[in-house]
Amino acid sequence: MSDHAKLTYKDHSVDIPVVVGSEGEIGLDLGAAKLRDQTGMVSLDVAFKHTASTQSAVTFLDGANGILRYRGYAIEDLAERCSFLEVCYLLLRGELPDATQLDGYRRELNRHTLLHEDLKRFFDAFPKDAHPMGILSAAMAALSTFYQDGDTEDPKAVELDIYRLLAKLPTAAAFAYKKSQGQPFIYPDNSLRYPANFLRMMFSFPTEEWLADDDICNALDTLLILHADHEQNCSTSAVRLVGSGHAPLYACVSAGISALWGPRHGGANQAVLVMLEEVRRAGGNVKKAIEKAKDKSDPFRLMGFGHRVYRNFDPRAKILKSKADMVLNKLGVHDPLLEIAKELEEVALADPYFVDRRLYPNVDFYSGIIYRALGIPTDMMTVMFAMGRLPGWIAHWKEMREQGQPIGRPRQIYTGPNHRAFIPLNER
Ligand code: ACO
Repeated sequence: MSDHAKLTYKDHSVDIPVVVGSEGEIGLDLGAAKLRDQTGMVSLDVAFKHTASTQSAVTFLDGANGILRYRGYAIEDLAERCSFLEVCYLLLRGELPDATQLDGYRRELNRHTLLHEDLKRFFDAFPKDAHPMGILSAAMAALSTFYQDGDTEDPKAVELDIYRLLAKLPTAAAFAYKKSQGQPFIYPDNSLRYPANFLRMMFSFPTEEWLADDDICNALDTLLILHADHEQNCSTSAVRLVGSGHAPLYACVSAGISALWGPRHGGANQAVLVMLEEVRRAGGNVKKAIEKAKDKSDPFRLMGFGHRVYRNFDPRAKILKSKADMVLNKLGVHDPLLEIAKELEEVALADPYFVDRRLYPNVDFYSGIIYRALGIPTDMMTVMFAMGRLPGWIAHWKEMREQGQPIGRPRQIYTGPNHRAFIPLNER
């Protein structure tokens, strides 16, 4: 295969170097070809459907074949056999830790689980019904004001910021929940594993200790692992874009949380449950929901269905579908929403509308049902996603900074008015 492609337009012609990834993906390197400098032209690709923003060694995703790997390891193996902290280590450092390394990592993290007492007071300022994603995004940006030593050029300072973020985000997330319930904050307990510590901060009281059992902690570990990275998605791209301007890492993560919030991205897990609940309340008629999703005059979409990259089964949804049964059985929960979800999936997958567009259940379709069984309230579900996605955001941010990527600054094709004579206010 030629290692150059040729682009010709009128009297312009340019050789474009071809870049081949380690899994055979082929990219046209318009930057190396200096397309704009050479020809005065730019590429136009609204919503980046055909554009790679970078070369990356973090995560491999093959949407056509339903493959997802972090640093070369299959998501199925990681979800089945690893803890979330091992996956954090893998994403951020490139290799799985041995037992000693993992122990050291956990000890380092545990030194940073508390929030500054002044930051704790910050939660009081929000209305009781504030969405926890808004609180979490604000809390992560606020961390930058407490840790102003965060020099993003200094690897040691970056390492410290990473420990702080991984350790403090669950504490801030649990405090946001406690605030919404009018309950006292529960401080972290560093003797517990990452998921157990978080669940205790959510559900304990000073008067009554609550500890999650191993099955529940393992289920949460799996969910966090499945969310941990997904290459250049909307929120990761937001983190990278903000980071490319050399903003503090805390501010970049705050931007990622805001990007994740919307129902077309991480907010879909909350939206799925709202949708399933509506179907249940309307008598469980899934066909009506399907017809509504197909109706082009109605903005409603089947939440938890479809994906920009997967045009086959989302491998994370497959894992979660079987996990949902297991978790609900173990907890003795009978959730009619799980039955509705399964029926919706079956009907949609037999419908030509969804088949033709290759719309399959995504990770959010079943995650909400498991979170619900674990006692996580609906508006905290996207927060859970953020907790899982945190190491992925940081791994991509770190890779970008190590690659020395310049500031992200897309071009545009201007379609507005040409130059117009200015008209003073009194003559308009
Ligand atoms: N329900 C009904 N129709 C859908 C759905 C859906 N869930 N998803 C896509 N379509 C239709 C579109 O209307 C469009 O139809 P058309 O070709 O007749 O116009 C076609 O399928 C292609 O859809 P696009 O919006 O072009 O696909 P895109 O790749 O841009 O969007 C997205 C992907 C945003 C995930 C979309 O499938 C969607 O809105 N899904 C529901 C929300 C959701 O579950 N989001 C979570 C994604 S996973 C994650 O971010 C963690």
